[in-house]
Amino acid sequence: MNISYTLNMPKSTTIFFCSSCGNEFPKWAGQCPACKEWNTLTQADSFLKPGSSLRNSSGRKRAPTLSPSQALKQISKHTFNTNIKELDRVLGPGITNGGVYLIAGEPGIGKSTLLTQLACKLGITPRTVTRRGSSEVGRMVYYTCSEENPTQVAIRIKRLSSQTNTHIELISSSDIEAVIKTVGRPKKGHQSLLIVDSIQSVYSNQNGTTPGSMTQIRDCANILIRNAKENDLPTIIVGHVTKQGKLAGPKLLEHMVDVVLDFTGDRQHELRLLKSVKNRFGPTDETGIFQMTGTGLVEVPDPSKLLLTDTSQNQPGSALALVMEGTRPMTIEVQALVSATPLPIPRRIANGIPTNKLQLITAILDKHLKLRLADKDVYVNVTSGYKVTDPAADIAIALAIISSTKNKPLPKNTISFGEVGLLSEIRPVAFMNKRNKEAKALGYKNIINPTKFTRLNQIKL
Ligand code: TYD
Ligand code: MG
Repeated sequence: MNISYTLNMPKSTTIFFCSSCGNEFPKWAGQCPACKEWNTLTQADSFLKPGSSLRNSSGRKRAPTLSPSQALKQISKHTFNTNIKELDRVLGPGITNGGVYLIAGEPGIGKSTLLTQLACKLGITPRTVTRRGSSEVGRMVYYTCSEENPTQVAIRIKRLSSQTNTHIELISSSDIEAVIKTVGRPKKGHQSLLIVDSIQSVYSNQNGTTPGSMTQIRDCANILIRNAKENDLPTIIVGHVTKQGKLAGPKLLEHMVDVVLDFTGDRQHELRLLKSVKNRFGPTDETGIFQMTGTGLVEVPDPSKLLLTDTSQNQPGSALALVMEGTRPMTIEVQALVSATPLPIPRRIANGIPTNKLQLITAILDKHLKLRLADKDVYVNVTSGYKVTDPAADIAIALAIISSTKNKPLPKNTISFGEVGLLSEIRPVAFMNKRNKEAKALGYKNIINPTKFTRLNQIKL
């Protein structure tokens, strides 16, 4: 028995894989032959026996098959809501059984907070009866505390949830094989969810390297994915990002999992955005919006009203824009400060918009609106730590700079949306009708948009 087992075990041979593109090579090289990145090849063990053929690799076992209609019947059974609307919005149909989700973000942004809240919402008593009378199967939530100790997580759970009968098991281990053994095979009628916080701090005994290394991350992810698919166990993995904002670990990780969620925001501010970068079960065009408060993350169902409490409106240098976050409009405030410079080359400092965009807009204002900015420093800031990606904020950036230069506030109740071209023309943006409707609903009387104005110099302050 033992002998045949040993004989059938795939022999491990050494390979080198690129942490940037994920390609594998038999030999080490300083530069990856595929993606041309330097110092990215890392040694790893391959489990594929050289010369093993497809015919004998999986024995005589046949793979199960399903017709598309049979597979479709399983969808409702296989997907469940998280009871956090903003998270469901990003996920599309909710969490899919057997799905592997990766949530990436900078340290301290709130990944553990979000997952603790999710655990509290889902870790309800198994087989509770819903209001409609149907029997709803609750979930056992296994939270792997490999980064913090279970007491820290327990304190957070106590702070964030008033419920006491939550079915949450805190797993105090970083050994991924032990974690999987603890969760075990699901019992009939009992559903579970596994959270691993984080992939950088767990390790597999099959790999001799330290936790957090490229190969450890890859191997642990592989083990978790295989376990998720075999046991139909939804699994959420936390991943850290590097200083450059990229996910720490092999790029391969993003290809391996089903869903990659990006949790972003400015730690000094409350606003937090959850976007899906990849989603095998739903769309990637939605954004979940939260505010970090003293009592955890609070959902923001109506983002266009979120920033309106700011008091700096109607002051010189302030302009409002209606930008889209996913499919929902959101109000942002752009502030500009234009002041005389003692420097031979004036400063252009941007926060919340790319510096290139600021330079472009100042050049357009200088050339087409004859606004003398060559001897002035221009600072632009978007409030609430929001990072603008929608070109519809262009008009607001231009108006804020004009307003600060002339030291004249914009007319009351003004909001804008529209892209500014190099010839100072105003270009249409996506979702024009939706933005118009929202601006009117919010009570703005002066709506500056591409249907009213075709050039920047037509807008009179
Ligand atoms: P955390 O979820 O631990 O971040 P991550 O797991 O992404 O590293 O969140 C850490 C920050 O969130 C911390 O600086 C404090 C803040 N926070 C609140 O403001 N309110 C809360 O209720 C909680 C739990 C955290
Ligand atoms: Mg954390």
